[in-house]
Amino acid sequence: MKHAPALLDPLQVAALLIELGKEARLQRFEVAPNPCVGAALLAGGEVIGRGVHRWFGGPHAEIEALRAAGARAAAADTLVVTLEPCSSHGKTPPCVDAIAASGISRVYVGALDPDPRHRGRGIELLRERGLEVELVDGTAPLDEVAPHFLHWTDNERLRRPRPWTIAKWAQTRTGQLIPPADVGEGRWISSHASLEEVAVLRSRVDAIVTGVGTVVADDPRMTVRPPGDVSRPPVRVVLDSRLRTPPTARILTQVRTHSEGGGRTVLLCVGGADASRHHALLDAGAEIHELHVATDDGVDLRDVQRYLWEDLGARRVLLEAGPVLTSHYISHGFVDQVRVYTGSVNGGRGPNLGPELLRLKLSERLDREVGPDAVFEAFVDAQRTSHLRSFH
Ligand SMILES: NC(=O)c1ccc[n+]([C@@H]2O[C@H](COP(=O)([O-])OP(=O)(O)OC[C@H]3O[C@@H](n4cnc5c(N)ncnc54)[C@H](OP(=O)(O)O)[C@@H]3O)[C@@H](O)[C@H]2O)c1
Repeated sequence: MKHAPALLDPLQVAALLIELGKEARLQRFEVAPNPCVGAALLAGGEVIGRGVHRWFGGPHAEIEALRAAGARAAAADTLVVTLEPCSSHGKTPPCVDAIAASGISRVYVGALDPDPRHRGRGIELLRERGLEVELVDGTAPLDEVAPHFLHWTDNERLRRPRPWTIAKWAQTRTGQLIPPADVGEGRWISSHASLEEVAVLRSRVDAIVTGVGTVVADDPRMTVRPPGDVSRPPVRVVLDSRLRTPPTARILTQVRTHSEGGGRTVLLCVGGADASRHHALLDAGAEIHELHVATDDGVDLRDVQRYLWEDLGARRVLLEAGPVLTSHYISHGFVDQVRVYTGSVNGGRGPNLGPELLRLKLSERLDREVGPDAVFEAFVDAQRTSHLRSFH
């Protein structure tokens, strides 16, 4: 049995928490709606492993730090972590179990879990198992390290839960989502490097949502291909109020090979669709779910949110639709995060989503480049977006 470690110098703990918070924040667009978290494992006051939560569904920071320490983890006596370790089963087992099993005896925690259902529970469980836990409040506050997580766990969002939605689109230099007919077979705007990024993103969401307009125009498969994890294909959901999806559509094909993964496809429609079409689509492998409310735009997006959350259990959703559905999602305040690829294509067809985007209050913006494309990512501020709804 290891002896209790000497207390760390508070300045060392503070400095570590600040560094870990900064490292963790770099992954904000990959982990949301999960929090950005960083952790360091120490033995005799020396850092022997550090890690951050890198992607939604992936190992938590504490587990990454234990892995990074490798064989030296056996000597670890202290953990410094920016957020209270999780105490419940989510996509991964509770970190408190792994921490307790690791033989660590002291934990410095940078912030309490803001979710009222879990707040303080991780610390309590660690203490029950005999670990000393110190809360170092204020050094790596959540409103700096992971403000999106405060929105995700606020009362309003917990009372009316809906999936975290990432709207992703590719646009030409003039901001149009549809390229000129003679460029990229009339549908490709972004580069191969960007498509590879999207393949990874697809394998890190629970569902992909698109509109029937895209299915009819492009006949996409919306599958996961390498470098995405083909073993984790999300559910494909098509908003198709009148069942216009052709039974031959490629999105209906289920595929599980080493180079492509495509799981279930659900068509969301409203009642009264043509019966023979309904049967043909079922025969083609589609699942069909009727929503009760129709609007002038198609299916009711609030119903869609409920279906995704309750029936599919989807928590992180990727919206990969054309301008019609994407702009409706934005104007209804259902977009939490945007990722926009601007390809090196001039001109284009259809509307430009720029005006919609300008009306949003965006935060934590990041501009970067992938191959020849410019990529822009940001979170959407919920308050300002809900104000938008009054205009529609
Ligand atoms: N650049 C990109 O990133 C990108 C991505 C996807 C597509 N595209 C392009 O976009 C074009 C298709 O555009 P699009 O705007 O027609 O496709 P879309 O936005 O994917 O689909 C729109 C259709 O979805 C259905 N829908 C059902 N409920 C809806 C609701 N509540 N709100 C809005 N729509 C609802 C409607 O058809 P019903 O009324 O029949 O249900 C509507 O016409 C294609 O040319 C494609 O290449 C570009």
